[in-house]
Amino acid sequence: MLEYHLDGTLIGTGGLETSDLENLAGPLTGVREEVLADADLWAGDANVPEAKQPLDAGFHMLPNRLLDELAADGDSSQLAQIQASADRLAELVDSVVVLGIGGSYMGARALLEACCHPYYNQVAPTLRAGRPAVYFEGNNVDNDAVQGLLDLLAGQTGDWGIVVISKSGGTLETAAALRIFLRELTSSISDAAEVGKYVVPVTGTSGKLFDLATALGCDERFPVPDGVGGRFSVLSAVGLLPAAVMGLDIEALLAGAAEMNAHFEREPFDKNLVLQYVAAAHAMEEKHGADIRVLSTWGKRLEAVGLWYDQLLAESLGKHERGAMPLTIVNTRDLHSRGQQHQEGKRDKYITNLTVKQGIREPLAIGQSDYNQDGLNELANKTLPDILSAAIAGTNQAYRDDHRATADLVLPKLDEQHLGQLLQMLMLATVVEGRLLGINPYGQPGVEAYKKNMNAILRK
Ligand code: PA5
Repeated sequence: MLEYHLDGTLIGTGGLETSDLENLAGPLTGVREEVLADADLWAGDANVPEAKQPLDAGFHMLPNRLLDELAADGDSSQLAQIQASADRLAELVDSVVVLGIGGSYMGARALLEACCHPYYNQVAPTLRAGRPAVYFEGNNVDNDAVQGLLDLLAGQTGDWGIVVISKSGGTLETAAALRIFLRELTSSISDAAEVGKYVVPVTGTSGKLFDLATALGCDERFPVPDGVGGRFSVLSAVGLLPAAVMGLDIEALLAGAAEMNAHFEREPFDKNLVLQYVAAAHAMEEKHGADIRVLSTWGKRLEAVGLWYDQLLAESLGKHERGAMPLTIVNTRDLHSRGQQHQEGKRDKYITNLTVKQGIREPLAIGQSDYNQDGLNELANKTLPDILSAAIAGTNQAYRDDHRATADLVLPKLDEQHLGQLLQMLMLATVVEGRLLGINPYGQPGVEAYKKNMNAILRK
């Protein structure tokens, strides 16, 4: 199970007092009851009161529901169908372009970067178990980038396909990309009438993309379940279909998330990862003005998880002129860019390290060399993980010496099960924090303003 440690040496000196956390035990335990009741309310027949709307609490028990359905219905369950569709696509094509923006792509990208080969698209297919290369587009409107990807696909010998993801089915960035990529896809396959086999949409049960999918003859398509908001949808077909295309174990992802659900529901305040995480962050913000929430990822593989969390926190809590400012950094890289400010700048930051206990590959040693001008023979037996661990400990020590608060979120391994735990933990924490602040974490009314203006400008 994931671990969460607040740097105990800071209590009393780094801003937080034990009482800050203890004072939140009652309110947060109450909020947990509310969040659990929201999941029941969402699933039941009762009307959702006005004050709770929108209530996109469908994400909460979704992992359990998908796993239960798999156990009960086998091949006809949605999870089995997602896997079958991903396997069919993997047989049919060499590359898949995943079109989507915001919550409709950030989770899949996070899973790819965290769990797949670090050079997934570049390595020989055998090193990615023969699965297709995966590219992300439709998440911007960059003329050069789109055509760059089309060049790359045109230079391939094998076929390529599309997974298009849009809950609303009407997001302009994704829709424009789909039209362009479809045009190229249709002219690149031998039988244009078969294009529907190469395209798998994930969308609502009605809307423009749904209608287009019908017209194209896409027999396989998956829903974004009702009551699951975009940024909470990584453990629905939105994240699971691309993950299955990449060959990830989607059952393990869901099992990890279901474990986090059980932990959240059962564990008391002082052992509850979700409640402890929110308590420390909230106390640092409210009491000490640390409203920049730094997620300090170590190594290269968790940056996209951090960017996914940036969106989750920003779109969920950045409302009514409130909400902490999320910032993902990657160390040791950013110790050489942001480190100075985090060590000596304003005391407006609260740093949570996101680390991995056990890497995937065997530790690589520096090794002896006849050319010792760099003086590294002294460290010949040290490995890259040893250096990373020393950097983490050294950085934490430096913050501690200056009474700057940090916490550690530790993944025992970088695999699907622990990623499932982490994603679910951060989604639950975001909802809990929203309820604690009296902010509805669901919905993103502020995003509509730019869309409305952009469409008006384009269509006038
Ligand atoms: O979290 C959200 O709801 C948003 O980030 C959406 O995912 C994003 O705007 C894309 O929307 P759609 O899936 O409807 O194309």
